[in-house]
Amino acid sequence: MQGRIFSGIQPTHGIQLGNYLGAIRNWVRLQDSYECIYCIVDQHALTTVHDAAEMRRNTREVAAALIASGIDPARSILFVQSRVEAHSRLAWVLNCVTPLGWLNRMTQFKEKAGKHKENAPVGLFVYPVLQAADILAYRATHVPVGEDQKQHLELSRDIAASFNRRFAEDFFPLPEPMIQAEAARVMSLRDGTKKMSKSDPSDMSRINLTDDAETIASKIRKAKSDSILGISYEPEARPEASNLLSIYAALADRERADVAAEYAEATFASFKEHLAELCVEKLSPINAEMRGLLANPDHIDAVLADGAARAEAIARPIVEEAYRLVGFR
Ligand code: AMP
Ligand code: TRP
Repeated sequence: MQGRIFSGIQPTHGIQLGNYLGAIRNWVRLQDSYECIYCIVDQHALTTVHDAAEMRRNTREVAAALIASGIDPARSILFVQSRVEAHSRLAWVLNCVTPLGWLNRMTQFKEKAGKHKENAPVGLFVYPVLQAADILAYRATHVPVGEDQKQHLELSRDIAASFNRRFAEDFFPLPEPMIQAEAARVMSLRDGTKKMSKSDPSDMSRINLTDDAETIASKIRKAKSDSILGISYEPEARPEASNLLSIYAALADRERADVAAEYAEATFASFKEHLAELCVEKLSPINAEMRGLLANPDHIDAVLADGAARAEAIARPIVEEAYRLVGFR
């Protein structure tokens, strides 16, 4: 094994194709070469989700999606953040070695807080410190994340170094970001210039991992297209064609250029038929397994409880040692 991976996903909503192709599929592959710890970060989600039923539902749905996609709870640790106290216990210590000025530079806070910063919850402001605690509580060496999390990862490294400088040289390894390629960015089926997202009001804009075969096929057929003959990859001029082509290549695990050559003279209709078939072929088994899992929430809860116990066994001694270093023990 080449190191220890930690990554997190917020249960703010269910999982769509963008999450799957942009993040989860990569997490699945990393299991072959790293010790992997994957966390459903409900404490982070609480910065925006204030509905208990929704939190519970999303947490189970994300767990089911991860397992159905190939995260193997026997090989990797899969758990829910709030079940392991080490995260919040370490977060407080890290809050005390993180200058306010560092957090003031975080662009995600600015975006999420919007115009009325004074009304934003404090949790949203210190969100990146909890994220650093997630990673450092396991002394993780590598962190796979999307481009948007790069700034938070750099902050995690700075926070680790800040703690080490004050209390113990080399106590926390500086975690290496593994930035997932922009090429994996999946765009909306209704507008090729917008990211596919769970927060888009139109359900036709995305493919959810909970969609059945018929729904998937119909969303692909109705996806926005243009009137140019042939399919080509030109993100500026033809964002929709380019997006569908990228989705095809990602799902088929083929080079985009290769797929583009194959469909260079195809009509949109026939390309979409092939893409719909491919989506159904790749996503139906995941969908079926997810349904099976969601029909048996006790099983999901048991898997998560086992994951939490294993996570706790790693994180607790590390946080205890940090507590000793600061003088709490
Ligand atoms: P989110 O739920 O938006 O916080 O995203 C969770 C993970 O999925 C992050 O690593 C994102 O970078 C990734 N992700 C979300 N939407 C997309 C998308 N449309 N294309 C590619 N990756 C995405
Ligand atoms: N902030 C990350 C996101 O929104 C989720 C996250 C929380 C995370 N803790 C983490 C990612 C630790 C990597 C490591 O995508």
